[in-house]
Amino acid sequence: MQAPLRLHLSAALKDDSSWTHDANCHCHCRFQPRSQPALRRRRQLIQRLLLFGSILLTGFFFFFPDLRPDLGSGPLSYLASTDDSKLETVRYYDLSNVQGTARGWEREERILLCAPLRDAAPHLPMFFGHLKNLTYPHNLIDLAFLVGDSKDNTLELLNSKLEALQADPEARNQFGEISILEKDFGQKVNQDVESRHGFAAQAGRRKSMAQARNWLLSAALRPTHSWVYWRDVDVETAPFTILEDLMRHNKDVIVPNVWRPLPDWLGGEQPYDLNSWQESETALALADTLDEDAVIVEGYAEYATWRPHLAYLRDPYGDPDMEMEIDGVGGVSILAKAKVFRQGVHFPAFSFEKHAETEGFGKMAKRMKFSVVGLPHYTIWHLYEPSVDDIRHMEEMEKERKAKEAEEAAKQQKEDKIKEQFDNKGSDWEKEKAAVQDLVQKAKNEEKEEAKKREEDKKAKEAAKEEPKEEAEAEKAKEEKAQEAAKEELKVEAKADKAKVEKAQEAAKKDTADAKKHVEKREEIHEAWGVDERGKAVPKQPEVPDSA
Ligand SMILES: *[C@@H]1O[C@H](CO)[C@@H](O)[C@H](O)[C@H]1NC(C)=O
Repeated sequence: MQAPLRLHLSAALKDDSSWTHDANCHCHCRFQPRSQPALRRRRQLIQRLLLFGSILLTGFFFFFPDLRPDLGSGPLSYLASTDDSKLETVRYYDLSNVQGTARGWEREERILLCAPLRDAAPHLPMFFGHLKNLTYPHNLIDLAFLVGDSKDNTLELLNSKLEALQADPEARNQFGEISILEKDFGQKVNQDVESRHGFAAQAGRRKSMAQARNWLLSAALRPTHSWVYWRDVDVETAPFTILEDLMRHNKDVIVPNVWRPLPDWLGGEQPYDLNSWQESETALALADTLDEDAVIVEGYAEYATWRPHLAYLRDPYGDPDMEMEIDGVGGVSILAKAKVFRQGVHFPAFSFEKHAETEGFGKMAKRMKFSVVGLPHYTIWHLYEPSVDDIRHMEEMEKERKAKEAEEAAKQQKEDKIKEQFDNKGSDWEKEKAAVQDLVQKAKNEEKEEAKKREEDKKAKEAAKEEPKEEAEAEKAKEEKAQEAAKEELKVEAKADKAKVEKAQEAAKKDTADAKKHVEKREEIHEAWGVDERGKAVPKQPEVPDSA
């Protein structure tokens, strides 16, 4: 009974509009102008009809709220529902229109801005400051927040901030659709800076962060979105044009470099996000040795992956548009085409190629042949939260840097040693001479020792002469024979030793000659080449004659 009524009403409204249209047409094109009272009467009739219709509709939907037509959220869906579909509850979307292009703001491409929040109240004022300053048309940005596992007043503050934001008298400052999603993930790890950054907590933390991101995105992504922008609330400084700047590259996934300012005594600034990196052979080999469920987290000494990090490649004066292909991405600020997610790439809450969350996301996108790039010289700045752990974290990074330096130093040392050996040929001869003399002395001493021992033995034998005669005689003969043999042996040995010593002396002499030759040769080279301050031979500059 209600449905026909509704149809009737919309038909009536439609007739009204065509009627006015006809009236205008008659009025301006073909016929004489109507008399004033007639026009007024007609206008009154239309107004009454419209008023009556709207009262009827309002009353109807008041009593039957379930039958209210859902006109969708964004302007696109509204258009789609009225233009292309006869049924008001069916909406039509052409997803080929939302693939993302380099100049999305001109094509009115919508961005879904996602921000996971946990105990984020202290950062919300700053975050809303950033939102207000974004130059991308605000009406094209839909906001989605996931509030979970928070013990502070994040939710209340978020609500009041959003109300203030949308109450801006300038309509163009207001954002599009806003979703707040609430879900706890039962994170056991404390979210304070200390335990958040500790190595042991990483894998579990990253997996539950991944789940939070997936829940947030799957709930908030609409068919109208061309882009998804992930942004942490604790970013302190970022260009207002960041969305356009990243979009202009027209990549499937793109991240800026993320650093953080430090107090001067800590060096002024520091790379922050170490999750954006290029894959390395070392890391792949390491991954092969790990358990199937293991998760490598970048930026900790426990996993020395030797990957080129986007963060470390920054040159403050480098071209901000320079791109670097990366495999893992950090989550502080990611702009991705919505089609990447529609195609099935997500934030793995399990070990995907030994990575999880945003790093796993980067790897998965890469695996699906999407372009994943970082901008080493386009930098945004993360908030500096001074803490014991930050210093520890810094020390970890310092350790990694030092290890790299030590490797370099070892290489240099090796080179120096070779050079030193070359220089010390002369003194080596002295050492060898001493060694030879030692050898000779030792041989002489040994000979003396042996002789002394034999004498003692003889005496002992004589003392034992009381023993039975035959036995003693036989013993004596045997002994004499042995002594004879020993004497003979000793002679041979001594001869051999002497020969050895002579040979050694000969060799040493030759070495000296060689060393002398080396020194002469080197002097020759130095004369011809010249030596730099590190003792390295360099070609001598030809002497320029005075032009005067
Ligand atoms: C937003 O812009 C204003 C005016 O340029 C500036 O004072 C403010 O610091 C900016 N806010 C943030 C969070 O960058």
